[in-house]
Amino acid sequence: TVDSITSSLTSLGLEKPELEIPGSNPENNVVDIFRNYIVQELHKLTSIDVQVIYNALNTPATLDKGDLILPLPQLKLKGNPKEKAEEISQQFIKGKYIEEIKPQGVFLQFYFNQSTLLSLTINDTLANKTNFGSLPGIGQNKSIIVEFSSPNIAKPFHAGHLRSTIIGGFLSNLYEKAGYKVTRINYLGDWGKQFGILAVGFDRYGSEEQLTNDPINHLFEVYVKINKDITEEGDESPTNEAAKAYFRRMEDGDEEALKIWARFRKLSIDKYIDTYKRLNIIYDIYSGESQVSQESMKDAVKLFEEKGLVHVDRGAKLIDLTKFNKKLGKCLIEKSDGTSLYLTRDVGEAIKRYNNFKFDKMIYVVASQQDLHCQQFFEILKQMGFDWANKLEHVNFGMVLGMSTRKGTVVFLDNILQETKEKMHEVMKKNEAKYAQIEDPDKIADLVGISAVMIQDMQSKRINNYEFKWDRMTSFEGDTGPYLQYAHSRLSSVQRKSGIEESELLKADLSLLTEPSAVNLVRTIAQYPDIIKKALKTHEPSTVVTYLFNLTHIVSQCYDILWVAGQEKELALARLALYASAKQVLYNGMTLLGLTPVDRM
Ligand code: ARG
Repeated sequence: TVDSITSSLTSLGLEKPELEIPGSNPENNVVDIFRNYIVQELHKLTSIDVQVIYNALNTPATLDKGDLILPLPQLKLKGNPKEKAEEISQQFIKGKYIEEIKPQGVFLQFYFNQSTLLSLTINDTLANKTNFGSLPGIGQNKSIIVEFSSPNIAKPFHAGHLRSTIIGGFLSNLYEKAGYKVTRINYLGDWGKQFGILAVGFDRYGSEEQLTNDPINHLFEVYVKINKDITEEGDESPTNEAAKAYFRRMEDGDEEALKIWARFRKLSIDKYIDTYKRLNIIYDIYSGESQVSQESMKDAVKLFEEKGLVHVDRGAKLIDLTKFNKKLGKCLIEKSDGTSLYLTRDVGEAIKRYNNFKFDKMIYVVASQQDLHCQQFFEILKQMGFDWANKLEHVNFGMVLGMSTRKGTVVFLDNILQETKEKMHEVMKKNEAKYAQIEDPDKIADLVGISAVMIQDMQSKRINNYEFKWDRMTSFEGDTGPYLQYAHSRLSSVQRKSGIEESELLKADLSLLTEPSAVNLVRTIAQYPDIIKKALKTHEPSTVVTYLFNLTHIVSQCYDILWVAGQEKELALARLALYASAKQVLYNGMTLLGLTPVDRM
């Protein structure tokens, strides 16, 4: 990133507050410049530790309460906090950083100097472009693994996997912006008895032709049919026995048995790659339950045996985790026939990953139905003595409800994306003149449709269940994906229509931006790096989504007042610089979420 902030400060004749505060990123975050200035001055007045002051400065909920707000009791000063607030606000030196400081009860509200803020912020966005908001210092020399999506192969993707995919894609991008080396891993559900069932089913119902044309749907059909057979014939039936025997052969490494399975796996991955591409996701590694060595699982069993924590029940081995945490219960660690389990495979996989990557952090994006499962294998790793077990984090999420009404039990991702694309196409066609100007309407409809699906997923807190509603997903009204796309394309259009070159924008006279709505827009743009920081804490896409809606609402208020068309050149240029800056932030936020912003729609 260009250090545009320091050079802007120099050209304003300002000295950078020279403070080294962990967590503060004044090279990349304009707000931190102001924060550091406030910290420096308050430290002079109160002698309170700089880190304590820094941490106490918050972003208020609304701009009318200032750009930063400080609850004085957090500084633990002697005396009455209300009186202190009065006193400090009188002593505080105002000027080119802080224009106003207001005591409000026990709070101090700080208002940034508008012209300094305008100049630093707009120049920073225009100079750093897609890097605006990046905070590379945070994760410098650190690495992270993000495991997400992890569908069960030979089954179509459903809405639950969509959630993991979207959230995981976002978190990967987020950590990259924070300077981490990110490894994206897809841990496929590609092992277990169901692959014995599938092989037997393919023998009975499979078609080579359909397998090549539409592998996942075909395999799923086969899987449904053979499962029906097994249900009817019973667990003791030859069909079920054949399936079990087949998987047994797979676990024993029988080449013939593994051949068909490997084909199913490859065909599934090829198809997934297409879907992921549509969602702007590229994996570094396709791992899977099949890739876990039996060794580490055996190690785990042995270790618990030594600790006397293994119970044998009808040949199967269970370990007792209640000793460490009552809630974790007893869990199966080895089946009676010696085959592995989902849980043990996770233990083995985690060990392998640590040995390969020595990660500083590893995130599992997995549904909250698997909370207990994750707690169990995290605890097992901890008890095995791996000190890195505390670097694992489960990022969970709620369910998608109401999927059953339309198309059987689940709605598959491909169908969802197809349907939303068609709807978007219809909506776009309504404006004939505009539609005629779109180069590749099919592509745009697809991108806007995908935004609809993704935003409705990321709008509320991860842990909430949400109702799957076609209407809401394809709506242009209110806070939706298409609305963000519309806002972005409108900003592009303002720029196109002005006929002003992008290179001219850096020369704009920003002192012409005096209207309160222009200033509020800049204040909001300046918050973006803080939003990135906050999202790193919450691991919530909604932190960014909410911010982007707020931003686009303010932009739309600006259109009523801050015209570009028909204005004299200087004013048009200044306003365009403002809009270009807003567009850059919107673009950065949208791509962070995994969307592809469109320039026309
Ligand atoms: N394949 C599993 C499922 O579809 C999700 C895997 C989650 N990741 C893990 N390491 N257990 O339910």
